[in-house]
Amino acid sequence: MAIILDGKKIAEKIKLELKEKISRLDKKPCLAVVLVGDDPSSKVYVSMKQIACEGVGIISKEYHFSTDVKEEELVNLLKKLNADSNINGILVQLPLPKHMDEYEIIKTVSPLKDVDGFHPINIGRFSWGRKKLIPCTPKGILRLLKEYNIKMEGKDAVVVGRSNVVGKPIALLLMENNATVTVCHSKTNNLKEKTSKADILIVATGVPKLIKKNMVRGGAVVVDVGVSRIEDLTKKKGYYLSGDVDFEEVKESVSYISPVPGGVGPMTVAMLMENTLEAYKSQNGE
Ligand code: GUN
Repeated sequence: MAIILDGKKIAEKIKLELKEKISRLDKKPCLAVVLVGDDPSSKVYVSMKQIACEGVGIISKEYHFSTDVKEEELVNLLKKLNADSNINGILVQLPLPKHMDEYEIIKTVSPLKDVDGFHPINIGRFSWGRKKLIPCTPKGILRLLKEYNIKMEGKDAVVVGRSNVVGKPIALLLMENNATVTVCHSKTNNLKEKTSKADILIVATGVPKLIKKNMVRGGAVVVDVGVSRIEDLTKKKGYYLSGDVDFEEVKESVSYISPVPGGVGPMTVAMLMENTLEAYKSQNGE
């Protein structure tokens, strides 16, 4: 039976340390959170981010637009937030509605306030190994591995998923930490053959329970980034959350595994708090 990578517990510890650091600042940092549309998952994520801000002493300001907002209107708000010295971090919750070009929107956010680390300048620096603000989910995964003393050097790491938000940046971080990295995706032939060679398996596809026991090497470290809402009419909430890994099956044979919920998700939020503090510090000459 595997050791559970308890992201919830580690995230609480990190937030407590951040709270203490933030309490010693002259001013409270401020994060602007921009939400477009009514996607229920995005709404939940945004509210979790706001609750975390409150917990650590960061002011959060929400800007909510309807789905049919014009790209220009959003760009104008972002320019205003860039120019406002009271705002230290700006986060545009993704995905944006289909009529919007996410790249164009993200490009508008000042790289100094880009607490998601998605701006091309921040991604470019990151690829060069010159990190400033880096994406929260991969940063959180790395912190989780480090907290459990999981060594990456020389290990075979397999990433399933090639998104800009998780797959690509976690592959970079693993490489930086001297792992040998294979990136798989929806067009990969014989996925099982690749995943079963992994010492460290990171799964970020959004396909519920994609990874079964027979796809994972015994003793591997498994990090599950997926969160899918599965309808369940027998439950009060009407749905439950599932990861990309068949947790019940896989936990029997691996050495470490992250649960969903309570694994990577809380780490992402804690890293957002950390990035907001970093942005505040660099804007205030610290
Ligand atoms: N949607 C899914 N993950 C993320 C994230 O890390 N940041 C933002 N802004 N949107 C997301």
